[in-house]
Amino acid sequence: MSEEPIRIGRMQIKNRLVKAAIVENLATEDGQVANALIRLYDKAAHGGAGLIITGGAFVQPGGRNVRFQTGAHCNELIPGLARLARAGQVNGTRMVLQISHGGRQCPPHLVDGDVLAPSPVRDQFTKIMPRAMTEDEIKETIEAFGRAAGRAQEAGFDGVEIMAGHGYLVNEFLSRRTNHRRDQL
Ligand SMILES: Cc1cc2nc3c(=O)[nH]c(=O)nc-3n(C[C@H](O)[C@H](O)[C@H](O)COP(=O)(O)O)c2cc1C
Repeated sequence: MSEEPIRIGRMQIKNRLVKAAIVENLATEDGQVANALIRLYDKAAHGGAGLIITGGAFVQPGGRNVRFQTGAHCNELIPGLARLARAGQVNGTRMVLQISHGGRQCPPHLVDGDVLAPSPVRDQFTKIMPRAMTEDEIKETIEAFGRAAGRAQEAGFDGVEIMAGHGYLVNEFLSRRTNHRRDQL
């Protein structure tokens, strides 16, 4: 069963083994792919998985939630992302870049103290009170996800996965607990 190929949309995957997204914390401080990250994915691909989903790459500087997180927020990152895609695409393994915004779970020191969320609802875990995004900021973030996906495509990834779980920004919009907005209903 695990050896059987499967298709997700237009992406043909050679088997059912998937490496789930794990944020690596192995990029440079400005989000550039570093050699340690390449080595990790080279190893992962040689393990034989049909699909590798990278750890979340932040789509905007205000959405970074670990210090050495991979970035997908500007065009200067595309050559490094291309190296990353190629490192995993061994023997037909598909590489998917996860794109992410940490929302209210971004540590303040990584986002200039401006922790964003749909609504000002304190995070029970970090105790941080985020600032509600303006409508313009929401539009910018939606566009930033789109542009990050475009960079992934340009870099040669086989697809993107939008991080919409774990209490991060998209998840915060999807939950009534964290989204109290009445605009654009
Ligand atoms: C250190 C660490 C980092 C993670 N980073 C991500 C991530 O960037 N994106 C994501 O969707 N899941 C992330 N996860 C969740 C894992 O992909 C996985 O869903 C979770 O560990 C449960 O899978 P398991 O039951 O096979 O352990 C992370 C988990 C850990 C432990």
